[in-house]
Amino acid sequence: MEIKTERLTIKKIKKTDKKQLVDLIGDFRVSKTLSNVPYPYTDKDAEYWLNDVKNSKFKLNIFLDNILIGGVGLRNMDIDYYELGYWIGFKYWGKGYATEACYGLLNYVKKNTAFKYLKAYVYKENIASSNVLKKIGFRQTGDGKIFSLSRQENIPCINFEYCFRNSAKPAFNLESKSANF
Ligand SMILES: CC(C)(COP(=O)(O)OP(=O)(O)OC[C@H]1O[C@@H](n2cnc3c(N)ncnc32)[C@H](O)[C@@H]1OP(=O)(O)O)[C@@H](O)C(=O)NCCC(=O)NCCS
Repeated sequence: MEIKTERLTIKKIKKTDKKQLVDLIGDFRVSKTLSNVPYPYTDKDAEYWLNDVKNSKFKLNIFLDNILIGGVGLRNMDIDYYELGYWIGFKYWGKGYATEACYGLLNYVKKNTAFKYLKAYVYKENIASSNVLKKIGFRQTGDGKIFSLSRQENIPCINFEYCFRNSAKPAFNLESKSANF
């Protein structure tokens, strides 16, 4: 599966991307707000991921001009819903890539699956990530705490949800970013 957005391609990672993966996600500025990424991030962790992506259609990475810049994917948590997760390498932050990639995946899911809703959990400190979700139409449903593998502690989080039948409208028009799929 390959999803093309205006600037990005969302597809499976390859072995040749391993070094870039370790360099980007091995940065604590990236892993500290992810729940399931260890720090330090080793070659072995990357190999686990390279193998693990084979088990799910929706474990994907984000490429800009064929260079790996991040990850976006869905984890099946229940028969009814999937959890959205994403990250962008530090040097690529602030350019709208997370919003574009998440919106691209959301639209793919909307058109090609019968999923009822998606959930996402964002650490309260992670304003940029909450912004990404709000911009693509997720709504806040509550809060809680989620364990962080990199920090080895429970961290307060905000719970978000996107319902495919009755979704909120994106906070601004992103249609141009989804024209290619
Ligand atoms: C969260 C993350 C994915 C955002 O990636 P990104 O490509 O920089 O995000 P975007 O550029 O698409 O959008 C970020 C939005 O937050 C805003 N933002 C960024 N930092 C902010 C801050 N400190 N306070 C308020 N808004 C902020 C941006 O201005 C932008 O909104 P805008 O387009 O309305 O200006 C990235 O910072 C990251 O990978 N962090 C580490 C991993 C992570 O936290 N993943 C999400 C787990 S829930």
